Amino acid sequence: MSDTVMLITGASSGIGEAVARQAVARGWKVAMLARSAKKLEALEKELGAQVLGLSADVSSEDDLKSALAAVKEKWGRLDVVFANAGTGGSPGGFSGADPDGWKSMLMTNVYGLALTLQVTSEAIRESRGHVVITGSIAGRRSLPGSMYSASKWAVTGIGHGFRKEVGKHGVRVTLIEPGMVDTAFFDEPKPDMLKSEDVARAVMYALDQPSHMEVHELVVLPMAQQGSDIVP
Ligand SMILES: NC(=O)c1ccc[n+]([C@@H]2O[C@H](COP(=O)([O-])OP(=O)(O)OC[C@H]3O[C@@H](n4cnc5c(N)ncnc54)[C@H](OP(=O)(O)O)[C@@H]3O)[C@@H](O)[C@H]2O)c1
Repeated sequence: MSDTVMLITGASSGIGEAVARQAVARGWKVAMLARSAKKLEALEKELGAQVLGLSADVSSEDDLKSALAAVKEKWGRLDVVFANAGTGGSPGGFSGADPDGWKSMLMTNVYGLALTLQVTSEAIRESRGHVVITGSIAGRRSLPGSMYSASKWAVTGIGHGFRKEVGKHGVRVTLIEPGMVDTAFFDEPKPDMLKSEDVARAVMYALDQPSHMEVHELVVLPMAQQGSDIVP
């Protein structure tokens, strides 16, 4: 599997970075995409020649097309897309949140995801590859007043709809739906919650399955969330 070429969006921290580290440890070639050029440069330096840092915004079609062109130029193919870039919402609920905050979040979480799938779909069909999408338990259960939760419901819908479009071409699509994960997504540490590495193992589990098997949807929750409203 060391010929595997993977593109990760939202790779500069948290879950995306953890998946990149586990993929590199297997000898995969990993294109790491995010907006923070400096963080990507540092990761590229640390992780070595198997990594290509791509400074790009998932809400820009031009950025994504340039990123894909760079991957194709360097490695000639694309086997796995981990569409993971995402951001949180602003407080205040539907009644009071800053609508500009909704715009930028929806442009990343929903439009940016759809663009990522569109721009990479030809390459992933060519390789009969695998697309893993980071949804959320918040895309399965509604959080009160949360546009973020609504954005992740859209992610769930996009994942299932995309599978129906590309599954017949041999492309696998997996939705990974974590509960709370201790990442930079939150301003405060969340020591009792999942670690990025936990979610990364779930992603690698889905990718490890033989080509006749698809992990359709995988919910992973911290035990510390048991008994809360978010747990189905
Ligand atoms: N933490 C949780 O509890 C939790 C639970 C369920 C699901 N998730 C989901 O997991 C995914 C990863 O989040 P995380 O928890 O690992 O948080 P994180 O550490 O904040 O990572 C978010 C990543 O997305 C990138 N990003 C944000 N906007 C972007 C844009 N417009 N274009 C390109 N990259 C962008 C960020 O990098 P730059 O800022 O450098 O662009 C960063 O690499 C998100 O989709 C999130 O919704 C998180």
